[in-house]
Amino acid sequence: MATKLKNLTFLFLTALLISANSASIGNAQKTSAMQTFAEDTHSYSNPQAVRVTAVDLDWNVLFDKKILQGTAILSFGRTSKEKNAPLILDTRDLKIAKVEASSDDGKSYKTTKFNIGVADKILGAPLTIQLPANANRVRIAYSTNPNASGLQWLEPSQTAGKKTPFMFSQAQAIHARSFIPLQDSPQVRVTYTAHVRTPKNLLAVMSAEGNSQDSARTGDYTFKMPHPIPPYLIAVAVGDLQFRSLGNRTGVYTEPSMIERSASELSDTEKMVEATEKIYGAYRWGRYDLLVLPPSFPFGGMENPMLTFATPTILAGDKSLVSLVAHELAHSWSGNLVTNATWRDFWLNEGFTTYLERRIIEAVYGQPRREMEAALGRRTLEEELAVFEERDEILHVDLKGRDPDEGFTQVPYEKGALFLRHLEETVGREKFDKFVRGYFDAHAFQSITTETFVNYLNKNLLDANPNSVSRADVDEWIYKAGLPKNAPQPKSDAFGKVETQAQSWLRNDITASGIKASAWTTQEWLHFLTSLPNNLGTGKMAELDRAFNLSKIGNSEIAFQWLMMSIKNNYVQAFPRLKEFLTTIGRRKFVRPLFEELAKTPAGKELAAAIYTKARPGYHPITVSSVDEILKWKTR
Ligand code: BES
Ligand code: ZN
Repeated sequence: MATKLKNLTFLFLTALLISANSASIGNAQKTSAMQTFAEDTHSYSNPQAVRVTAVDLDWNVLFDKKILQGTAILSFGRTSKEKNAPLILDTRDLKIAKVEASSDDGKSYKTTKFNIGVADKILGAPLTIQLPANANRVRIAYSTNPNASGLQWLEPSQTAGKKTPFMFSQAQAIHARSFIPLQDSPQVRVTYTAHVRTPKNLLAVMSAEGNSQDSARTGDYTFKMPHPIPPYLIAVAVGDLQFRSLGNRTGVYTEPSMIERSASELSDTEKMVEATEKIYGAYRWGRYDLLVLPPSFPFGGMENPMLTFATPTILAGDKSLVSLVAHELAHSWSGNLVTNATWRDFWLNEGFTTYLERRIIEAVYGQPRREMEAALGRRTLEEELAVFEERDEILHVDLKGRDPDEGFTQVPYEKGALFLRHLEETVGREKFDKFVRGYFDAHAFQSITTETFVNYLNKNLLDANPNSVSRADVDEWIYKAGLPKNAPQPKSDAFGKVETQAQSWLRNDITASGIKASAWTTQEWLHFLTSLPNNLGTGKMAELDRAFNLSKIGNSEIAFQWLMMSIKNNYVQAFPRLKEFLTTIGRRKFVRPLFEELAKTPAGKELAAAIYTKARPGYHPITVSSVDEILKWKTR
């Protein structure tokens, strides 16, 4: 067995080397018709030899044990002539009870040998399954670990209703392997079905067809995703959920006490779908629903197909934070239809999506709002570029040996979006829109590398427009650090006025109550606060707070900026609000910078420790791992 495995590892590595060598002619190698293989340093799997194409799940959702228990049936095909190659899957903390193989499409199964390799902290452990000749399916009986990195199990007290427990998944980037044994690489697209059993009073929903539209509870649910999707888009949630229609093919799920607020905040969703279709072609997934989760959800939003998962912190009451919906919806084209082949190519997902998000905002809310959001985006990008190492400023980032969650910076989002805007401004909107629409059509339901994109760009846009953007420009944007000099500069008249007000107040020409802010939007407030110097001082902080009650503000984005400033200026009057914010919201984008800022001083560290002791049990594993790192937390 040991030598056999060694040989197989050797073959596997050889395949990787072959693919690495061919990098100069394109690191995506054809393994069979339409199936390309790109080296993915974040997966142990071997799709270049055996490729999974479908996943059938059967789960019992056991809240008392905080585990999913059941089976996963994987259908696969051989993609190389190598007849003896095993099937290699990714796993993390899974308990594998039994593995069986079938050579007759699942009519009969026989137990087969498997081996779980050494677990890596970032990647988890490979599961290598020996395959009988002609095998085309395996059935794996398994259960998850209560601490699975891709699941969060909430106590009733952590929900809005406080009466029933809640569970949700978050698979991107490489957490699907913590609740399903599979080939966890975004280039391995699969269709899936699921049979989910839950307590009778709870509703299960998934990123698939089959979500109940009358909130009917049976405790027994079936789902089907007929399109091939990357594994990081498989998603499930179970809780006391209610549905409310928002339009023809749009709706929202959330806990009953959140349904009114959610439905009114998200009432423009159908309009957004229509606006996107107008520019980029038909929405190909059937329904577009949203799930508003409890506040421990670690992200703002997650573009799970047919069912975006969202943080409740976007419910500002005035639709001012719905660009998040535009963003997750845009992924239905950029990301879910055309997907990054590996996490190096993440900017293809997020850069395109941020660009599309702004186009949707422009179409639905007008150009001034788009420019404000683009300007805020560029500023946050510049703040990061000021402190980043060069290697992290590159769109085609090298994440080898690192957690792909580290690639979650403003660079793929905002630098990527600026690059696409630069292309648009150079060739003209009409031509560029046509190009992007053609790009989505040509790569629909495929996962592609940066190189494939560049080749397509050259052939379909730049060759025909030789005086627009040069190859050297494209190269600089994608493969070099920093922001090219020709980067677009968003312009907002409204922001100009905000800056004038800020300057007058800083020069003491006017008092805080003299600032004409009564009609400011969330975006103007954010621009105002981020325009102020870091060392504003407690006197000025108190003056602002008295005039505008900022320590009490409900808008999560404004509150976050205000609390960051409060830490920087040691404005202790805001610390009770800081404590409340950090113990009720687990969104990593907010939580991480606040703890980072606190950790800069000894007193701040002490406060951080006190707050984190209280907050940590409620945070999602992904947020916990980030904050543990910042505070060098040892589980005490
Ligand atoms: N796909 C991302 C979320 C993600 C990325 C999760 C990488 C895990 C790993 C999602 O589309 C996203 O970008 N969400 C943003 C909001 C958006 C408006 C920029 C977020 O969660 O903050
Ligand atoms: Zn995104």
